[in-house]
Amino acid sequence: MSLIGKIALVTGAAQGIGRSIALRLASDGADIALVDLNEDRMFTVAEEVKSLGRRATVFRANVMNREEIFAAINHAEKELKGFDIMINNAGIAQVQEFAKITPEEVEKIFGVNVYGVLWGIQAAAIKFQNRKQNGKIISASSIAGHEGYPLLGAYSASKFAVRALTQAAAKEFAVHGITVNAYCPGVVGTDMWVAIDKRMAEITGAKIGETYDKYVNGIALGRAQTPEDVAAFVSFLAGPDSDYMTGQAPLIDGGLVYR
Ligand SMILES: NC(=O)c1ccc[n+]([C@@H]2O[C@H](COP(=O)([O-])OP(=O)(O)OC[C@H]3O[C@@H](n4cnc5c(N)ncnc54)[C@H](O)[C@@H]3O)[C@@H](O)[C@H]2O)c1
Repeated sequence: MSLIGKIALVTGAAQGIGRSIALRLASDGADIALVDLNEDRMFTVAEEVKSLGRRATVFRANVMNREEIFAAINHAEKELKGFDIMINNAGIAQVQEFAKITPEEVEKIFGVNVYGVLWGIQAAAIKFQNRKQNGKIISASSIAGHEGYPLLGAYSASKFAVRALTQAAAKEFAVHGITVNAYCPGVVGTDMWVAIDKRMAEITGAKIGETYDKYVNGIALGRAQTPEDVAAFVSFLAGPDSDYMTGQAPLIDGGLVYR
């Protein structure tokens, strides 16, 4: 229970990895502000957090929008009486042949995966400084933030960008006692991968499930990653055992990409 008394905000918390992070940090003792576009699912996760004995509050925001992120953090602070941990988890995938990527597609994926993380880091760091306290900022990168993947060109670029933002922010905010790190999952069986697999099948002619299986077969530990595997590492990044770590984006992928 290393997070007792802490307040954590998790974006993209309505499902998948974000939901698991919210539940894990709640199990660690934190109260949780859930932020997502999907209100109905957030309310369900809020009930799950409460059933673990923690407080939960829900705020609908689009992470692409700077004002909405600032508003989400103000909401968390007001409702839960504090703000200690920011998890910029919300993200979208996009499968497209490199030669066919459009400006609209790049705008959309950078809007969520890059601007969303930039505003999230910025808003959290400003809030920690205004509150004159330490804080932890943790963002979702990916194996695709360490290696570019075919048909995932814009997605890979957006996840490389998360590492750049993490390093720059870590160096700027260290003096204020703020650490900034990222997590880089591999192949996690969430709705995101169902959509990736389906779109890859459309482009390559593979059968449904085939692309996912191909990626999973490359994992040294021999199984797909669960959202809980990711949440366990985020728990470490959010807790006191990672106090001496900043500017890092470690791979947590079962042995798939080696750096
Ligand atoms: N699933 C994987 O294999 C995998 C691997 C590496 C990294 N990641 C990253 O982990 C994060 C979570 O992935 P997931 O698999 O749980 O995805 P998911 O699609 O299952 O869930 C994403 C959540 O984010 C929310 N969201 C999307 N756009 C948003 C926006 N603009 N504003 C607010 N909320 C928004 C969605 O409503 C959804 O609840 C993403 O950043 C993703 O890129 C996932």
